[in-house]
Amino acid sequence: MAGCGELAANVPGGAVNEIYSYPDNQNVACAAADEFVRLANEAIADRGRFSVALAGGSTPKELYHLLTTEDYRDELDWAQVYLFWSDERNVPPDHHDSNYGIVRYALLEYVAIPEANVHRMRGENAPLEAATEYHDQLDRFFQPAQAGLPIFDLVLLGMGSDGHTASLFPDDPTLQEAQRWVVAVEHTRPPPPLVTRLTLTLPVINAARNVIFLVTGESKAEAVRRIFDSGERLPAGMVRPEQGRLVWMLDEAAAAGLPAD
Ligand code: 6PG
Repeated sequence: MAGCGELAANVPGGAVNEIYSYPDNQNVACAAADEFVRLANEAIADRGRFSVALAGGSTPKELYHLLTTEDYRDELDWAQVYLFWSDERNVPPDHHDSNYGIVRYALLEYVAIPEANVHRMRGENAPLEAATEYHDQLDRFFQPAQAGLPIFDLVLLGMGSDGHTASLFPDDPTLQEAQRWVVAVEHTRPPPPLVTRLTLTLPVINAARNVIFLVTGESKAEAVRRIFDSGERLPAGMVRPEQGRLVWMLDEAAAAGLPAD
């Protein structure tokens, strides 16, 4: 597997376990692909399967592409990989705004993952129906015992320039959701697309064994600063796994918002 650029020192403070800065998005994707394969093989060895909730948006596209290349494609057993989504737009799967659609064309068409392992949110259905249906998919797959929550091996997340993550937006009541695992979110103000969303809630995200943020571009630096320097409670900053590991992978442009050492 390719070497992926330099790692920054950890930034002190709070629940963030690991913050890494890389020269550019390509290096971020490369490091994320290395970690994806490592975590997958660890989970498959320990539990016989790897469950991952994929991030939407454009940043992870390069990661999804890298996983289809010969450096990575054959490094894991895709038959033991189970894909979910952190969030989805309330659109059909073939719509240009579909997060499932991004993964389908960047990854699913190139790796031997059984269709039954792909658990997409039914964005084509009415929001409440789709949220309930996805809860049922999670319940069937994880059959949560102890904490009563689905426990993903990995949740991949991006962050908007406003500090949103998945489809958890600033000042939205869904940030306080403590019971439901999946909720529908009316989204009527920027950033686009201004469509209803479906999203995993913070209790589910924070139950994960590993959460990795992929954040690149100077447009994200201000939100990074607001979270890590000013300590604002933006949605992305509210992701603090209870037991799991929290990793931020940034390019230098986004990392410009980190506090000076
Ligand atoms: C979505 C995503 C969202 C995304 C951020 C960053 O459905 O829009 O889940 O949370 O990760 O908006 O998007 P970019 O990677 O395109 O900047």
